[in-house]
Amino acid sequence: MTGTVAVTDDGAVRTIRINRPEKKNALTLAMYAGMTEALHETDKSHAIRCIMFAGAPDVFCAGNDLADFMKAADGGLDTRAHEFITTLARVAKPMVAAVNGAAVGLGTTMLLHCDHVVAGRGASLSTPFLKLGLIPEAASTLLAPMRMGHARAFALLAMGRPLSAEDAKAAGLVNAVVDPAEVEAVALQAARDIAALPARALAVTRALMRGPVETILKRMETESGHYKDFLQSDEARAAFQAFFARKK
Ligand code: COA
Repeated sequence: MTGTVAVTDDGAVRTIRINRPEKKNALTLAMYAGMTEALHETDKSHAIRCIMFAGAPDVFCAGNDLADFMKAADGGLDTRAHEFITTLARVAKPMVAAVNGAAVGLGTTMLLHCDHVVAGRGASLSTPFLKLGLIPEAASTLLAPMRMGHARAFALLAMGRPLSAEDAKAAGLVNAVVDPAEVEAVALQAARDIAALPARALAVTRALMRGPVETILKRMETESGHYKDFLQSDEARAAFQAFFARKK
């Protein structure tokens, strides 16, 4: 599968590449659907034992497409983003991410569902939800405080303060910070190492470590209930319009 979501296999590792560099890898509804399908297919495959998310050399993902958000603000709500995040929570295969450049919004919160994250020096993780008149999603209100503690999670999720790759490593969101040119090779090696582990023992270990998926899905439902309201607020509409009207 190629296009804005490119899926390639290398031995037992399937790479799902977010591939819309001209729009900084902002995620459209079609891209959510493509990634959801790729995750479902991977879970059904015996040959594929680890998933790797990758982006472009200068940007991992600019989050949800803000033009789609503007349409949703006018009442055109769509379930594809929600299906993607619930699939992220449910997927049984381990997930690795190779992050270069900016990871914004869902570009950051999806990393909380990954089991191993490699970031390039200069990468930046940010979740400007409140500045956009929104609230955090993808169960990040549950997973980020668990991972980083409340204080650091609050600075990231509520205050919208970006984390550098090094800060993200210190906070426990990132395993390794490497030269940007090395990110994919290092992440791929980690994915291969994971893929080589005894499959059943790995699946049981991972499931035990992640805890009940129902807890994560329930938090996603709760967040999503609020999110819909905020998405249609005057504050959110004004923020989306301001982004597209900004001077470069
Ligand atoms: N949705 C839609 N389009 C987006 C986008 C998004 N989330 N992020 C970037 N783009 C588009 C820009 O509109 C621009 O398109 P154009 O060339 O047709 O005008 C193109 O991608 C390049 O973006 P630009 O802002 O010029 O790149 P940059 O390198 O200066 O900055 C980012 C990169 C990611 C820091 C910046 O684009 C950004 O902050 N994007 C918004 C992120 C965001 O708020 N996401 C939602 C989180 S919930």
